[in-house]
Amino acid sequence: MLVDGQGVSLVRDGMRLKGDLERMARRIRPDALGRELLVRAARIKGGSESLTAVDATAGLGEDALLLAAAGFSVTLCERDPVIAALLRDSLDRAAASAVLARAVERMRLVEGDSVDVLHRLDASPDVVLLDPMFPGGKRAAAKKKLQLIQTLEAPCDDEGKLVAAAMAAGPRKVVIKRPAKGPWLAGIEPDYSLCGKAVRYDCLVAPCYGRHRGAC
Ligand SMILES: C[S@@+](CC[C@H](N)C(=O)[O-])C[C@H]1O[C@@H](n2cnc3c(N)ncnc32)[C@H](O)[C@@H]1O
Repeated sequence: MLVDGQGVSLVRDGMRLKGDLERMARRIRPDALGRELLVRAARIKGGSESLTAVDATAGLGEDALLLAAAGFSVTLCERDPVIAALLRDSLDRAAASAVLARAVERMRLVEGDSVDVLHRLDASPDVVLLDPMFPGGKRAAAKKKLQLIQTLEAPCDDEGKLVAAAMAAGPRKVVIKRPAKGPWLAGIEPDYSLCGKAVRYDCLVAPCYGRHRGAC
């Protein structure tokens, strides 16, 4: 880890990784946000003003920022201490940005394993987002940032536990980010999916909120 005037970075194998939520500024503009596949996947019909989400695999917080900009109060869970330190530094810097500050105010980082955190929540969130690392493929090769994160974290080996904890937290919807052609997380068939070129969002809807089957 390197701490300098520009914040906290991870430096390894000639690569340098620093959280940079500022580069998301264009994507959270009101005219762009509604086109984000994640925002569409997390949308709650008839949702109230005070929707809540848990990003159970926060990483560098980019997906959580999209949800916060869309109006969710987001609890970000990150279990890797190095990634959590990068994320905290990035959130601190983003809080000082005129463009990001309002969304960042709705983001709260909890360091720890989300399987435990989800069990200890005081109230059920509206949405739980899961984006665990998937085994290396085209996407991983394309993104240096992901390669560096992968040196810290092995692909997810507790898929079943993660989905079970997300469902047990009682959300209206669990949204799971996957590679466009990747397998379902823990082999669980979603109620419906939203597909983009590179990623797919599989949605599991709580029965009382009306499950329906649908595919890309
Ligand atoms: C692919 S990255 C997520 C990227 C994130 N969606 C973003 O927008 O930056 C997966 C992250 O989830 C974290 N993670 C995986 N399993 C976790 C768990 N059970 N609890 C907390 N964090 C977890 C990993 O440490 C890693 O930082």
